[in-house]
Amino acid sequence: MKLTADELRNKYLNFFQSKGHTIISGASLIPENDPTVLFTTAGMHPLVPYLLGQKHPAGTRLTDVQKCVRTGDIDEVGDPAHLTFFEMLGNWSLNDYFKKEAITWSFEFLTKELGFKPEQLNVTVFAGEEGIPRDDEAIEIWKSLGIPEERIFPSPREDNWWGPAGQTGPCGPDTEMFIDTGKEKCGEHCRPGCHCGKYIEIWNDVFMQYNKTAEGNYEPLGRHNVDTGMGVERTICMINGYPTVFETELFAPIIGKIRELASKTLDDPEAQTKAERIIADHLRTSVFILGDQKQCVKPGNIGANYVLRRLIRRSVRYAKMLGLAAGYMQQIAEIIIGEYKHVYPELDQNRETVIHELVAEQERFEKTLEQGEREFNKIATVMKQHGQMQLGGRTAFKLYDTYGFPLEFTIELATEQGMTVDRQGYEEAFNKHQELSRTTSAGSFKAGLQDHSEVVTRMHTATHLLHAALHQVLGPTALQKGSNITPERLRFDFTWPDKMTPEQIQQVEDLVNQKIREAIPVVKTSLTLDEAKAQGATALFTAKYGEQVTMYTIGDFSKEVCGGPHVQNTSELGGFKIQKEQSSSAGVRRIKAVITNLQ
Ligand code: SER
Repeated sequence: MKLTADELRNKYLNFFQSKGHTIISGASLIPENDPTVLFTTAGMHPLVPYLLGQKHPAGTRLTDVQKCVRTGDIDEVGDPAHLTFFEMLGNWSLNDYFKKEAITWSFEFLTKELGFKPEQLNVTVFAGEEGIPRDDEAIEIWKSLGIPEERIFPSPREDNWWGPAGQTGPCGPDTEMFIDTGKEKCGEHCRPGCHCGKYIEIWNDVFMQYNKTAEGNYEPLGRHNVDTGMGVERTICMINGYPTVFETELFAPIIGKIRELASKTLDDPEAQTKAERIIADHLRTSVFILGDQKQCVKPGNIGANYVLRRLIRRSVRYAKMLGLAAGYMQQIAEIIIGEYKHVYPELDQNRETVIHELVAEQERFEKTLEQGEREFNKIATVMKQHGQMQLGGRTAFKLYDTYGFPLEFTIELATEQGMTVDRQGYEEAFNKHQELSRTTSAGSFKAGLQDHSEVVTRMHTATHLLHAALHQVLGPTALQKGSNITPERLRFDFTWPDKMTPEQIQQVEDLVNQKIREAIPVVKTSLTLDEAKAQGATALFTAKYGEQVTMYTIGDFSKEVCGGPHVQNTSELGGFKIQKEQSSSAGVRRIKAVITNLQ
């Protein structure tokens, strides 16, 4: 079947309307009243008060299409399926129908309306855990619809539990629907959820029966809600049989424009494709953020503003790599606005702001890049005068560190001058810098054996617990900016726009102490950075793929790439106390804490 995104949106909304749902408008990309997330990440997000029990004016069955931004996967962009912006089709039951109707309608829509063959369909369901049973009801419903047991995959919490969207709120087990692309399995272990591209997830039905409290507990919600979400881009891709979302009609014109404007071809075709996709994805997301009805996010250094800045700057870097012709920013933005304005008229209404902000940010960033190029040229001239034709690794690293030049960029400039770059030296400088950041942050400048004293080791582990606790209490945007440890105290800086409330501070402290009491082993693993990231590890001072790193895992609470050293069990910390929470710089907070009751 061939289907456009317009047709898919209409089919979806009409189908659920025919099942008694009211079509409602999607909300802004900037969430209301939820400081724990920067952007709307799912269709359920604006509906949280109603999922919790407030009466919705449009009734108990709702359907819509929602703009979503998720930047957690930003490094995956460029692969066949990851995007920072996507549209989510959704249908909700507010304490109305439950699993039977939700799953039956999902099946009916996929097979009857979209024409997927039932044999292409694989599903995952919640496998259960202590206190929460396996979702046998969902399994039975899928079986009754003709999905055989071998294509129903019970999976643990990491895969089949959804939400809450922020730190607290409605959540529950889910059942995810995957289309089998027909590719070979990548190995014995290959099953829905594997990232090899055989199975593509297109829809998720969440059965929201629980509420996660600020203390981290799951309480019965006292209501049975359904929250579903279908990704427009992926579904269109699958229906039309494209290899990636970038071939769909939603991306083809943007990619086409980028190709038309490009004046350089990279030696590595894969790098070329990735650059095109990153520019297309990041600028599409930036246009939607800047063109949002709320008009409150502009490029800047904090929170959502910073995410936007990063998206624009990253696309500028790749645009430079491909040598996009002057005026590309405006031209690409125009294509995106033109393509979407009939669905999202706010983009057209805010056209001037969108283009103005994009171009202004591009110019600001290009100035920094130009300064870097001047610096490069100065160095290159002197080197050539001395007959040196290879740029040292430390210099290449300085260009990266001070002016944001990625290595590929420096290599290109060098090639233009008939020079080469000492890649290995760059990598060494990079690693040395990381090492330095780590040791500086560990307070090693205090010198001597003291660095690796037991107290400092305990503080190190406490820092990981603190970081993870901040993530749980404040959200994933509370990210480490710096850390400094002395035998007396630990100091931890992290991005967060507001003063923490006394309750939040208490929650963080309690959570760390709880993990200490749980006496969790601290497990050290050696693996590559990619593997660590694939396992969801936080990796702060590392950026090179393929590099061997050490990862410390503390139960399912914390996973961080770090140089160590760490204690072997959290119980060795004794106790943890936050002494101060203060501002460090704009958008950055600082916590000072101590370890207590040392045995
Ligand atoms: N909230 C669920 C998700 O994001 C279903 O929409 O997958």
